[in-house]
Amino acid sequence: MRKIHIFDTTLRDGEQSPGVNLNTREKVEIAHQLEKLGVDRMEAGFPAASPGDLAAVNAVARAVKNASVVGLSRSREGDIDAVREALKGAVDPCLHVFLATSPIHRKYKLKMEKHQVLEAAQSAIRYAKKYFSKIEFSLEDAGRTEADFRAEMVAMAIREGAYVVNIPDTVGYLNPAEYGAIFRHLKETVPGIEKVQLSAHCHDDLGMATANTLAAILNGADQIEGTINGIGERAGNTAIEEIAMALETRSDYFGAKTSLVLSEIARTSRLVSKLTGMNVPGNKAIVGANAFAHESGIHQDGMLKEKTTYEIMSPETVGFKESKLVLGKHSGRHAFREQLFELGYTLEEAQLNEAFAKFKDLADKKKEITDDDLLALLEERLPDAPEKYALESLSFSFATEAAPKATVTVSVEEEGSRTAEASGNGTVDSIYNAIDQAVGEEVTLVDYSIQAVTLGKDALGEVHVTMRQGEIEVRGRGVSTDVLEASARAYVDALNRLAANRRLPSGRKGAEKVW
Ligand code: KIV
Ligand code: ZN
Repeated sequence: MRKIHIFDTTLRDGEQSPGVNLNTREKVEIAHQLEKLGVDRMEAGFPAASPGDLAAVNAVARAVKNASVVGLSRSREGDIDAVREALKGAVDPCLHVFLATSPIHRKYKLKMEKHQVLEAAQSAIRYAKKYFSKIEFSLEDAGRTEADFRAEMVAMAIREGAYVVNIPDTVGYLNPAEYGAIFRHLKETVPGIEKVQLSAHCHDDLGMATANTLAAILNGADQIEGTINGIGERAGNTAIEEIAMALETRSDYFGAKTSLVLSEIARTSRLVSKLTGMNVPGNKAIVGANAFAHESGIHQDGMLKEKTTYEIMSPETVGFKESKLVLGKHSGRHAFREQLFELGYTLEEAQLNEAFAKFKDLADKKKEITDDDLLALLEERLPDAPEKYALESLSFSFATEAAPKATVTVSVEEEGSRTAEASGNGTVDSIYNAIDQAVGEEVTLVDYSIQAVTLGKDALGEVHVTMRQGEIEVRGRGVSTDVLEASARAYVDALNRLAANRRLPSGRKGAEKVW
């Protein structure tokens, strides 16, 4: 079987999803999980974007031991130098340098002729060669580039010593037959093509990213790029878990495999969803809550008689297990630590103490604690620095005949506590109005969603909010046995993310790519 290399870009293209702002600790946590998943390469960010991005890429580079860490760069010496700096300490560093090649990008964005694009990319690779033994070159918008120019650019990258050449369908425009044909054409016509790995990178604007990526594999791609849960710019990128399971389930057809540890897929999906604040839709292939649920009577009957009637892969293969009752009020530190270990967490002493205190707090309110509850507690936000706001107390009144009222006290870094009271259209609205008054920030709530972590009346409620302030959009998450407290926590979490974002030089995250 042919091995397909997996290039994960959750921390770069994935982080370009509107509202997603991962801090350094969160990036490192996801990077460790990607290592467990067994990705071959992981793109940690775009170091030239800001000193904060550079520092985050560097933290990932130093933390990761079992995968190549990649930094993105435009075809500019300054960007390449930023990646050099960021990848110091990496076991297996790789530079990813790109330049747009399509007529639209050449004319409107770059204002360059073909020969200028070729020369600019060539001199960037030459410069980079002095410092990097592994270079990936990407032809941005390769999908809409003329076939002969695309082949010329690929040939140039090979001559200059690139290690991987990437052919992105940047705007998700192509269909599988067209995208596959590009790979076949390059494999058949470009001199020296056997010296490089050819990579597929697709976006999902027309819902064809996975199909296009599989078509590229069938036509000779050696590497595929994607993100966990398919998060990313606009409609997102190819979902890595979909490719992994398509190759696994239909190995008879594709004759190709990855080195991924498939049983880590569910955990990785969950962690990425929690830390990015991007919910996984219930019907999402492979990792959605309903991906293995059988609702209709006919299907359930078939499943009871023989699973393969309606199940082409098993939930256990991707690491979904029934949420087991694990701990209760009387469980001690030892049992708690053991259970975390079972779930794949090895915490340092201080983290363990903090998590154990949270667990005890929860055990006072909830009789039986399942592993899903524990995961919900553990996957709370990991701040890089002390947070600006903390929810100190919350009370509210609700009556069917009167407007709800809420009183909140929020502690503000270096200023102390502030209390405010407000009413609203509903209890959540009144809580949010009171928090707005207490912190004195002008924000817009763009989205609010709530879900139960487990079954039962005392289940943990998990709230996600999306909040906007000017150009900046962030997501926040809150977990509690009380849904109104979870709502308040999610809102304060989002406010903290806005505050952290304002501290970044020149407000790193707007709604758009930096280039
Ligand atoms: O979609 C794209 O073209 C990219 C490049 C930077 C590889 O993400
Ligand atoms: Zn992309």
